[in-house]
Amino acid sequence: IRLGVLASGGGTNLQSIIDACAANQIAARIACVLSNNPDAGALQRAARAGLVHECLDHRQFSCRQDFDAAMVARLQHHQVDLVVLAGFMRIVGPAFIEAFPQRILNIHPALLPAFPGLHVQKKALDYGVRFAGCTVHFVDGGVDTGPIIVQAVVPVLDNDTEESLSARILEQEHRIYPYAIDLFARGALEIAGRRVRIRAELA
Ligand code: GRF
Repeated sequence: IRLGVLASGGGTNLQSIIDACAANQIAARIACVLSNNPDAGALQRAARAGLVHECLDHRQFSCRQDFDAAMVARLQHHQVDLVVLAGFMRIVGPAFIEAFPQRILNIHPALLPAFPGLHVQKKALDYGVRFAGCTVHFVDGGVDTGPIIVQAVVPVLDNDTEESLSARILEQEHRIYPYAIDLFARGALEIAGRRVRIRAELA
């Protein structure tokens, strides 16, 4: 299947997907990388990997709907089957979701439903949780609320800082995102209401 990866930042999740595709660990290929941020390291990583990459700077659009419509148009132009949000810092609106029903994934650096939103590694540390982690989920109309596909858990250590915990979580993000995308690509995922079942024979 054809992936459209959306990123706003450094792109280490994009890089893990690029590497997994190159190692034939994902039954998919990256059709395009889109960013809303002209300075995104993700665009440089895409260029280095010889991938189609485009920047649609959201500041050049008069409203969120126009930006979303432009992103959808580019994804459809590149015949994308699955949209992969990888550190994409924009909320996708209802028209975007309608264009790719149950075909948008996101990775969040916390064990949802705990700690939705931003700066969640620090929120977990400040809350005093013993375990943190990351979640790959389908994107629905809410923020960080869609059906959960894969999660990974990491311990929170006494001497952890926001940086050390974030690094430990990021390492797991790079492991579970390619795995989740491959499950989708191989048709292993079944959504039943809120729950996502993984077909055992394809796990
Ligand atoms: C990661 O923590 C990811 O979970 C969040 O954005 C951060 C940066 O990701 N969504 P990347 O290095 O730009 O892929």
